[in-house]
Amino acid sequence: MVKIGIVGLGPIGSMHADNLSAGKIPGAQLVCACEQKPVDESKYPGVKIFKDFDDMLAKGGMDAVIISTPSFTHFPLGEKSLKAGFHTLVEKPVALCTEDACGLVKAAKGAGRLCAVMLNQRTTPLYARIKELVESGSLGEINRVDWTMTNWYRPDIYFTSSPWRGTWKGEAGGALLNQSIHNIDIFAWVFGMPKSVRAWCKFGKYHSIEVEDEVCCRMELSNGANATFATSTGEYPGLNRLTIAADKGFLVAENDSLKITRYKCGSLKKYTEETKYMFGVPESEEIVETFEGKGEQHVGVLKNFAGAIEGKGKLEYSAEEGAKSLEIANLMLLSAWTDSQADSPIDGAKYKKMLEKKSAASKLRENPKTDFIVEFQKSFR
Ligand SMILES: NC(=O)c1ccc[n+]([C@@H]2O[C@H](COP(=O)([O-])OP(=O)(O)OC[C@H]3O[C@@H](n4cnc5c(N)ncnc54)[C@H](O)[C@@H]3O)[C@@H](O)[C@H]2O)c1
Repeated sequence: MVKIGIVGLGPIGSMHADNLSAGKIPGAQLVCACEQKPVDESKYPGVKIFKDFDDMLAKGGMDAVIISTPSFTHFPLGEKSLKAGFHTLVEKPVALCTEDACGLVKAAKGAGRLCAVMLNQRTTPLYARIKELVESGSLGEINRVDWTMTNWYRPDIYFTSSPWRGTWKGEAGGALLNQSIHNIDIFAWVFGMPKSVRAWCKFGKYHSIEVEDEVCCRMELSNGANATFATSTGEYPGLNRLTIAADKGFLVAENDSLKITRYKCGSLKKYTEETKYMFGVPESEEIVETFEGKGEQHVGVLKNFAGAIEGKGKLEYSAEEGAKSLEIANLMLLSAWTDSQADSPIDGAKYKKMLEKKSAASKLRENPKTDFIVEFQKSFR
């Protein structure tokens, strides 16, 4: 049985605690938690509650720690936990910049412990199917990708209810580092790392925040293909539509279904080269696949983490994996800040310095609003 401690019992940390307490992660047990704010301890019978993280590390009696505190604390708390000898899972984003993500990877190696990241959307059946279609070669060579991912609407209270959200100091980004980091992770998981990125960001266009709430981006994939990505937290209902134009088929994924137009001749390139019809189009068939539900999400990641600790399987959601989406998000911000193309791999040390400058001029929000209502499960399911 893997004994788990959680630091941060906000909306997401308390969801992890509830999932563990409800026995949804076989082989894992919640033994302690740490929260700075007052906690209703009757909700967590038999769980030791701490106010101070160092105290929990010293006296919690756990094997592994889940870090579900604000984003700017993932690196310092994660590094501390690993160096203290605990397997550690940090919430997304893995850190605020790739330099710190590397720091977590190094700390994990040094301590001989696992460092995982909550990349829960990799368990979404629709995304897993798209990865399978691309990786197996079933769609053929990728010619172009477009992902319009703008259904991340957030009202002002989402930002004003916490000290860290919407600030350079607290999360080092907005729509990219917080919401769309999930989609950028799926992008990197399916298509690999882009060679270069050119992005245009609008900072505080819809909300009174320092960071980006609208982004348009063009990337070049490793095979030279064009890819575009757009995100926003200011439009409603927005859209989640991914288009893949490939040599053997044309795929459109929207919400919970995907439609593939397959060319009967096998290859669009071959048809283009060989047809005698000036205005011809290839014969094709349409295949529609629909997906019910979002899969195991956070429970699936925790099951894999606990299993990997017990040596029952490979860690699928490592810090190295989490660093990929972070690098792309950092490249997009870098491109917008410098009004120029940003190439991968990023110069992590240089980016960190730029970020530190922005953070120095930024402030966590004082007196965050307290009259907010959390309907977390509803909003992300
Ligand atoms: N994977 C997902 O689907 C998902 C969803 C929501 C949030 N998140 C991530 O989870 C993190 C937390 O998000 P949230 O919405 O719960 O934030 P939140 O600010 O509402 O809650 C964080 C909690 O951590 C506590 N805390 C902060 N520092 C602490 C410390 N040193 N010791 C003890 N407690 C401490 C705070 O008091 C607060 O209660 C963010 O990084 C966010 O990006 C992930």
